[in-house]
Amino acid sequence: MHSAVDVIRAKRDGGQLSDAQIDWVVDAFTRGEVADEQMAALAMAIVWRGMTRRETARWTQAMIDSGKRLDFTDLGRPTVDKHSTGGVGDKITLPLSPLVAACGAAVPQLSGRGLGHTGGTLDKLESIPGWQADIPVERMRELLADPAIGAVVCAAGADLAPADKRLYALRDVTGTVESIPLIASSIMSKKIAEGTGALVLDVKVGRGAFLKELDQARELATAMVELGTDAGVRTVALLTGMDTPLGHTAGNALEVCESLDVLAGGGPPDVVDLTLALAREMLAQAGITDVDPADALADGRAMDHWRAMVRAQGGDPDAALPQARHTETLRAPVSGTLTRLDALDIGLAAWRLGAGRARQGDPVQAGAGIEMHAKPGGSVVEGQPLLTLHTDTPEAFPTALEILRDAFTVSDTDHPTPQPLILDRITA
Ligand code: URA
Repeated sequence: MHSAVDVIRAKRDGGQLSDAQIDWVVDAFTRGEVADEQMAALAMAIVWRGMTRRETARWTQAMIDSGKRLDFTDLGRPTVDKHSTGGVGDKITLPLSPLVAACGAAVPQLSGRGLGHTGGTLDKLESIPGWQADIPVERMRELLADPAIGAVVCAAGADLAPADKRLYALRDVTGTVESIPLIASSIMSKKIAEGTGALVLDVKVGRGAFLKELDQARELATAMVELGTDAGVRTVALLTGMDTPLGHTAGNALEVCESLDVLAGGGPPDVVDLTLALAREMLAQAGITDVDPADALADGRAMDHWRAMVRAQGGDPDAALPQARHTETLRAPVSGTLTRLDALDIGLAAWRLGAGRARQGDPVQAGAGIEMHAKPGGSVVEGQPLLTLHTDTPEAFPTALEILRDAFTVSDTDHPTPQPLILDRITA
């Protein structure tokens, strides 16, 4: 007979939880038998005391077992997905999923909405008129099996790791998000349950990321790679820089527009390079080694898959994207080199302009966000547009402009050495 208080005390005092204790507490919490305040206390004990690799693996498995684990092994093609821990201007899933599908893998991606200053893939795709995030599993299977489509980006159903849904909402309001084993098990329970055979993790590091330090990111990446591998999902992680935003846009429709540039063979070099690096990792994990994704981007195959994928989810790939009703321009105060453009400030300002939400369930503005006319290392001339702010709610401009006042540095003496985009690669 288990007791929540005994489990909390054991972890509080630095002990290891047994498999039976973990299975029971996760299951009883999902059923409502363990109260929110008890689970919050246990989460806080885990924040302080940590969990071993065995405990974390068992915790993850218990969260998977709280719902359904999808199975796409009968598709006739390898499945592979990518997960990003979230950044500013991170629109990579949009060009990446159809690109990898065009190269012969199936991409089942259950994605999330943005919260706070980092954007969510579903919010971006929902700016395409008609596009639907809710796809039943049987339809998902049909789309993945269709060689002309092969990729689905959709919302996770209620029966996918329901224990994590409850626990994440609780952690969010009890200051218990910041724990490597809890974050790793939360992300990986959903990714393992979605039924992908292989997974590439893009763990962001820097000012605009959830983890600011390389060591922390490496620790999280290692924990996630171990969890995936132990659960039979071939998993690799790239640690990538997030001190400055990716690409030239942050905001939902603005980022869809930029992704279309990439799919058309253009787009900002950092977005193209990261898309191709992740595509190569995904294809290697899927066992596809004879296709160069750069070719599929250049010859329009990735764009064809994008159009088919958008249409299959009710969207019109030819429809005009929503535009914000108001814009404001922030200009370079002096001439020189842009030495810094801060991802966190850009993310916070885009959020205030209406691109993100403060609480789960809030609406977002499809057209809101920020266009960046220069990137760190680029030259700017006094008075030229540096940032264009977009919103339907112009009363947001003063707050956004205040945030952006210190978001950048222009120097006529410093020339920053460009930061590599990929900082490390973690394998099992
Ligand atoms: N994202 C998740 O899905 N879970 C966490 O715990 C943190 C980020």
